[in-house]
Amino acid sequence: ALRIAVFASGQGSNFQAIIDAVQNGKLDVTIELLVCDKPAAPVVERARKASVDTFLFAPKEYPSREAYEAEIIAELERRGVELIVLAGYMRIITSVLVEPFYGRMINIHPALLPAFPGVNAIQQALAYGVKLTGVTVHYVDGGMDSGPIIAQRVVEVADEDTEDSLAVRIHAAEQALLPGVIQRIAQGRVTLDGRHVRVSSS
Ligand code: GAR
Repeated sequence: ALRIAVFASGQGSNFQAIIDAVQNGKLDVTIELLVCDKPAAPVVERARKASVDTFLFAPKEYPSREAYEAEIIAELERRGVELIVLAGYMRIITSVLVEPFYGRMINIHPALLPAFPGVNAIQQALAYGVKLTGVTVHYVDGGMDSGPIIAQRVVEVADEDTEDSLAVRIHAAEQALLPGVIQRIAQGRVTLDGRHVRVSSS
């Protein structure tokens, strides 16, 4: 089974969806590690309950992003991690992580990229007034949410939506999409060719 690490900073609903898919036999991976920069984040408790090891770090205790990323890389290599899944990891990633893991690191984003990259994407979409938004899973490159797109799902925006009501449907779409994308990667069905990603079905 593919050995994965999940990076998360917050609630961990996507992390939980991955755990559930593994437990239900729908996702053939082993979750080697949760990497988290927020000791009090609810995702940490989810990892504990599922007996997933956690690498917790406080960014302030390091001189630079590169310094903590070098420690993370050592930990990932020690555990033979083959794929990194960024699931609500709210930190900028540097080349220390991107270069060795290019093509082996994916991110989930709560908008239809390239629209609304960066933070507060749900709020950005609502403020802009788009009628359709959604979620994107993409490979991570050196830019901000700019890497090759693997899969997207559309979510309609209703006139009466608030940020909270839209977020509920965005999160449901993410949890429906992400485990299946990871499974296709684990099955070797996803190929990356420049900016273009092909996902074969059979
Ligand atoms: C998700 O909506 C994810 O797409 C978003 O953070 C949320 C994490 O939720 N990520 C970003 O905004 C990255 N820029 P979760 O902790 O419940 O999975």
